[in-house]
Amino acid sequence: MGNLIGGVFTSHVPAIGNAIAKKLYDDPYWKPFFDGFKPVQKWLAEKKPDVAIVFYNDHGLNFFLDKMPTFAVGAAAHYQHADEGWGVPLSKPFEGAQPLSWHIIDTLIAEEFDIVTCQEMQVDHGFIMPFELFWPGVDAWPVKVVPIEINTVRHPLPSPKRALDLGRAVGKAIQSWEGDEKIMVIGTGGLSHQLDGTRAGFINKDYDQFCLENIGPDPDALTRHSALDIVELAGSQGVEILNWIGARGAMGDKTVEISRNYHIPISNTAAATLLLETPALAPVRPERLKSQGTPVPA
Ligand code: DHB
Ligand code: FE
Repeated sequence: MGNLIGGVFTSHVPAIGNAIAKKLYDDPYWKPFFDGFKPVQKWLAEKKPDVAIVFYNDHGLNFFLDKMPTFAVGAAAHYQHADEGWGVPLSKPFEGAQPLSWHIIDTLIAEEFDIVTCQEMQVDHGFIMPFELFWPGVDAWPVKVVPIEINTVRHPLPSPKRALDLGRAVGKAIQSWEGDEKIMVIGTGGLSHQLDGTRAGFINKDYDQFCLENIGPDPDALTRHSALDIVELAGSQGVEILNWIGARGAMGDKTVEISRNYHIPISNTAAATLLLETPALAPVRPERLKSQGTPVPA
């Protein structure tokens, strides 16, 4: 029985990488954003995960408009960060959790997901940014990784329901994994943002709050909108919420919210950070259960 400890969800705006390189942690523009990671860093330091399964979207580095898988899973020994044009300082290499990658791939195929398997894969800001935020200044990343890439770029996009089902199938793989590693999931991107066109700079606080309120207790609520509805509601890049939905799907029915941050804007993006724990290891925290509308045990 796999050992899933929780999930962290965060925006992946490339400008964050430049702000980290310049150590702008206390800069008035950046402080409200970076402060949202303090509880996440504390939680990670306490829980010490061994593996991170990362749901993210590639932005044209590894896959481009000519060849775009809907879902791709990494099965490489190592993943290198490469410059994809945003000028983000290059990050350290990532060690692949290769046997777990293959177990996830086997499970997804058995669950009838026709994924692309990648034994070579480069990663971009959509993948690396959480690591820089979670473990600032480390010499080597403390977790091995499994990248799970969702197409949020080239239409037609997968539906939110399909992203949730993908995540749930990954959850089955975690449950049937016999290793004793502590596993976390990461969902990157979002929340609302649009980088170009007449709606460049578009942000929708109401939709973002809807996502933050529901993704923990009721992720199916996020599947009521189609991918195109989400483009309209959250902007053409706001549809990166599909990565959050996938990651949440892997976490099972019950989650407990530990921390949340929402800050507008970072660059063009409504920046959000959410930490959800999975109850198997979580102490019951009545005040948090209450805030999610779940009856508090007497
Ligand atoms: C920005 C946000 C993104 O998600 C991205 O991939 C690139 C840029 C931004 O807000 O600048
Ligand atoms: Fe993005």
